[in-house]
Amino acid sequence: MTASEIRALFAVASRPEVVSLAGGMPNLAALPMDALAVEVADLVGREGQVALQYGSAQGIPALREQICEVMALEGIRADPDDVVVTVGSQMALDMVTRILCDPGDVVLAEGPSYVGALGSFAAYQARVVHVAMDEHGLVPSLLHDALRTLAAQGITPKFLYTVPNFHNPAGVTLTVERRAEVLELCARYGVRVVEDNPYGLLGFSGAVNPALRSMDRDVIYLGSFSKTFASGLRVGWALAPPAVRDRLVLAAESAVLCPPNFNQMLVSRYLAGHDWRSQVKSFTEAYRERRDAMLEALETHLPDGCTWNVPEGGFYVWLTVPEGVDTKAMLPRAVTARVAYASGTGFYADGLGSRQLRLSYCYPTPERITEGVRRLAGVLEAELDVMRTFGTSPRPSLGRAEPRNGPQSPSPHTP
Ligand SMILES: Cc1ncc(COP(=O)(O)O)c(C=O)c1O
Repeated sequence: MTASEIRALFAVASRPEVVSLAGGMPNLAALPMDALAVEVADLVGREGQVALQYGSAQGIPALREQICEVMALEGIRADPDDVVVTVGSQMALDMVTRILCDPGDVVLAEGPSYVGALGSFAAYQARVVHVAMDEHGLVPSLLHDALRTLAAQGITPKFLYTVPNFHNPAGVTLTVERRAEVLELCARYGVRVVEDNPYGLLGFSGAVNPALRSMDRDVIYLGSFSKTFASGLRVGWALAPPAVRDRLVLAAESAVLCPPNFNQMLVSRYLAGHDWRSQVKSFTEAYRERRDAMLEALETHLPDGCTWNVPEGGFYVWLTVPEGVDTKAMLPRAVTARVAYASGTGFYADGLGSRQLRLSYCYPTPERITEGVRRLAGVLEAELDVMRTFGTSPRPSLGRAEPRNGPQSPSPHTP
């Protein structure tokens, strides 16, 4: 599709009659809006001279201290001096790529990967080498293969980019054992690790996994208040070893001078004056209810041959459709049937993903999710019907049994 076609598609997809399972917009309905309105008025009334003024490129010290307290929940012990506040973690991703990569450099990334990260890598002309995942996240033996192959070509990747918790888009979580293996492999091959963790506190069981950064102080950690508080405030951060931190501060200065004081001070007040941990808990309860609605609808409505993962937190289900169906080609037909999703190829830098799609359950109500999946199932049935009628039968599956219908390991790397 061309850029204008995509714009047209999204214009249609954002109409109210379309159930959008495409975007990863957090559900803000549970936020205490009245209390926040009072906080905003008080912030301007009492501290307007500072809140509405330029600030420091690294971010306000009080918030950097609070960020260290948030990260302590994941076992990270950090100095506020090593934290750089950014305009969302997207800005941190962009700056990390900018300072570490020259055109042609290799970045390792899970396959599939967060589309915004792929956008940053492409913007700085880094070459992405994907490493596949299974239901336990990144597969260390495949990471090892990639590192060995690149080393044989004289290539040291600039970093491994990973989303270890409730992956976007694959929905899977890296096991604790694998975290240690991944760190060991990267250390052995002299490859930095960039850990992007916006969903870490959004586990449905309430348990929090130890961050990679808690196991290795050289890891560059990216965090965000977008999913635990408010995405519109655009407050995220990077925690980096001093040499990288200094370059990040310079990069931030040249990009935005400083992150907005107002937004940082509001986040700081929110963390200090509100029971934000309970708020995160109510967010996760809402997301679990929506996850359950989606899984039940998938079980009930989808045709045979579809598989998906069971996310234990976060926002996403990664769906593999029967062979022969192209999720990108199907998208306009889905939107016509008033349901939208994110097709799989956007999450790969190398053209894979045509049999996959990402469904987000974070934003619509459970009823809308059920209806959206029902519509999607209808579109898939019609697609399969056309394939049967016109003889474009699925290619042989090379002796492998057809996948059973239902939740399974995500095999997100299935070509
Ligand atoms: C894995 C991942 N990283 C980073 C971001 C960007 O988040 P932010 O709003 O903090 O810029 C997102 C947003 O969806 C994400 O899913």
